[in-house]
Amino acid sequence: MTKIRLLAIVGSLRKESYNRQLALAAQEIIGDRAEFSLLEFKDIPLLNQDIEYPPPDAVTRAREAVKSADGIWFFTPEYNHFFPGVLKNLIDWLSRSKPQVLAGKPAAISGISPGMSGTALAQDHLVTLISFLNMDVMNVPRLTIPNAMQQVDDQGKLRLEASQPYLERQARAFIDFVQRRIDV
Ligand code: FNR
Repeated sequence: MTKIRLLAIVGSLRKESYNRQLALAAQEIIGDRAEFSLLEFKDIPLLNQDIEYPPPDAVTRAREAVKSADGIWFFTPEYNHFFPGVLKNLIDWLSRSKPQVLAGKPAAISGISPGMSGTALAQDHLVTLISFLNMDVMNVPRLTIPNAMQQVDDQGKLRLEASQPYLERQARAFIDFVQRRIDV
């Protein structure tokens, strides 16, 4: 059985981002069960149709990374009950690729926030967007981690305790979800 390739897209550009740390925790949990990489996209410009063709190199690189992945795992913060603009900008660029790199691609969503919602509202908006783009969304399980500060030490490092089994469960489910589509 070939190893599936998962690409993590983190909707925060912050160096110490909790969502980035969550993605790295997922990578550790997955170990050698799948290939796992993080998309670096902070050099992608704001979408402006004046610079759409030819696409900037950073956009081409992101499209290639998505194209060659078997599944995309989003880790999104919540900004004002929505997902961050940097993530919308990235997805807008990806959505304009020909052929489409997002359509049909399996997708999972997780998020962590200091607030009570655990990014649930941001995730709902993200589902609306990526469903419109015809991604193959794994709606169950999704992972929403509220009260982030209870699992962050005084150095700002994420120390998953209560949430660890849920991350493990989602990783297992997403690997199965992607694998089933490859085996068809
Ligand atoms: C936030 N934050 C936030 N948190 C939340 O739980 N619900 C929300 O609606 C918002 N809104 C919001 C708006 C803006 C503009 C910012 C900058 C922040 C707080 C946010 O969850 C927190 O900063 C996280 O640490 C961001 O995620 P990363 O960067 O740690 O992954």
